[in-house]
Amino acid sequence: MANELPAVRPSRWLLALYVLVPAWAVWYLFVAGGLVQPEVRPVARAVEGVSAGVAAAPEDAEQILGILAVVPQDARNARPPRPVTDAMLAQAKSQYDTLCAVCHGPDGRGDGPAGAALNPKPVNFHGRTFQERMPVGATHWVVKNGLGNTPRRSGMPAFGQLPDDQIWALVEYVRRLGR
Ligand code: HEC
Repeated sequence: MANELPAVRPSRWLLALYVLVPAWAVWYLFVAGGLVQPEVRPVARAVEGVSAGVAAAPEDAEQILGILAVVPQDARNARPPRPVTDAMLAQAKSQYDTLCAVCHGPDGRGDGPAGAALNPKPVNFHGRTFQERMPVGATHWVVKNGLGNTPRRSGMPAFGQLPDDQIWALVEYVRRLGR
């Protein structure tokens, strides 16, 4: 009987594998960041660098500054070529209700029914970082081009088919909505 024991004892190598494989999996998933999309990581680091001056909720700041990071530099500095009139704002309201509210919510809180399943969630226009840190030129670029073809690969669609004046009016409208 005693002679049979060594035959059923698992080898040391197998025991080592039982320990090393899960340890490697934990390291890969959480330390090396294999679960995190590579293009998101530099953004998260950039956010850490600037977040000292931001008093808003950290998730809100991370999302807004992450979006800003994918907007071309020259687009951020763009300004409306002419002032947005009250008539244009009224038109922007009805466009918002038809095209945007389904995701961003009727009051722009990011709580529209079609946005519930999205990750990242539609932006809440009442957020402090959106109001204080997102240049109008960047918002104009995002509404025109969407974010699906940027490294964010998120659910914000492109509305480039709209005339430029109407995009600028929507930009002004969503900023006022969140104030
Ligand atoms: C299908 C859902 C959906 C629709 C419809 C939609 N959005 Fe978005 N929007 C999003 C998501 C999701 C984000 C956040 C994307 C991210 O974090 O990468 C976003 C982000 C934004 C931002 C980001 C902040 C910025 O300044 O760039 C603005 C502005 C915006 N949307 C405006 C609009 C406007 C205006 C419309 C309508 C013309 C609209 N959205 C329609 C889903 C949507």
